[in-house]
Amino acid sequence: MVKIKDYLNSKIIDIQPLLALVLQKNSANLIINDGYRLTTKEKIKLDSLIEKRNKGVPFAYLSGYKGFYNSDFKVTCDTLIPRPETELLIDIALDLYDENQVISVLDLGTGSGIIAITLANQRLNWKITAIDICNKALLVAKQNAKRTKINFIKNDWLNNINKKFDLIISNPPYIKINSKYLKELKYEPTKALVAGKEGLDDINKIINNAPNNLNKNGYLLLEHGYDQQAKISKILQTNFNIIKKFKDYNTKNRAILAQLK
Ligand SMILES: C[S@@+](CC[C@H](N)C(=O)[O-])C[C@H]1O[C@@H](n2cnc3c(N)ncnc32)[C@H](O)[C@@H]1O
Repeated sequence: MVKIKDYLNSKIIDIQPLLALVLQKNSANLIINDGYRLTTKEKIKLDSLIEKRNKGVPFAYLSGYKGFYNSDFKVTCDTLIPRPETELLIDIALDLYDENQVISVLDLGTGSGIIAITLANQRLNWKITAIDICNKALLVAKQNAKRTKINFIKNDWLNNINKKFDLIISNPPYIKINSKYLKELKYEPTKALVAGKEGLDDINKIINNAPNNLNKNGYLLLEHGYDQQAKISKILQTNFNIIKKFKDYNTKNRAILAQLK
């Protein structure tokens, strides 16, 4: 039977986390016990995961979890896999207000719920609402929220939402319909990724409708594609003052913060 070390010495993609997943051991444990021989059942399970990973299925969809900020979140094929870039939105939002300020926040396109839930965990007194159009994604978000109090709503962006918020935050779909990057993202939901010819269809809708749903001096905080900041800034200028443009940790333009005029 094959030993852990045979797999570890192979060039199989993500073999260490795959072994850890199947054997329910951490990396250090795998190395200490690298003489362990996998049972037939474990080998069958591991080989099936290796096959899926080789076909390009992201590791997060195999494990069912992805880390974001300081927690693990359940993910399924109905939710986008959280990206480290999106942690930027959390830091910007937290910096906007004093720790004890009570504010209302709307997370648009919540997916697995990472933004709404992380903010709720960091600021217990914030009143948080989260919207998504996808029922299955909302189910995952609700499971991730556990007992965290968030008002989840199934809705098409801001259509017929009458409430006003202090902060609207969104990581909307922003990829161009014919982008070459979509090939690498084929296992993630198209609805979470693609936004028309220029990738700006959803961002446009959000920017145009947000003024009706923001309190006086309210903020709109958006994640966007690395090449979209100038265009978005222009669209925002009708109703908003641009507060700040942000780069992600790879120094790519990635987020924009605007305040209602
Ligand atoms: C890029 S994903 C972001 C998910 C999550 N907030 C994150 O950062 O990982 C965009 C989300 O917008 C949702 N979405 C797409 N079209 C929508 C619409 N018309 N109304 C509301 N949500 C929508 C998708 O279902 C998806 O969950």
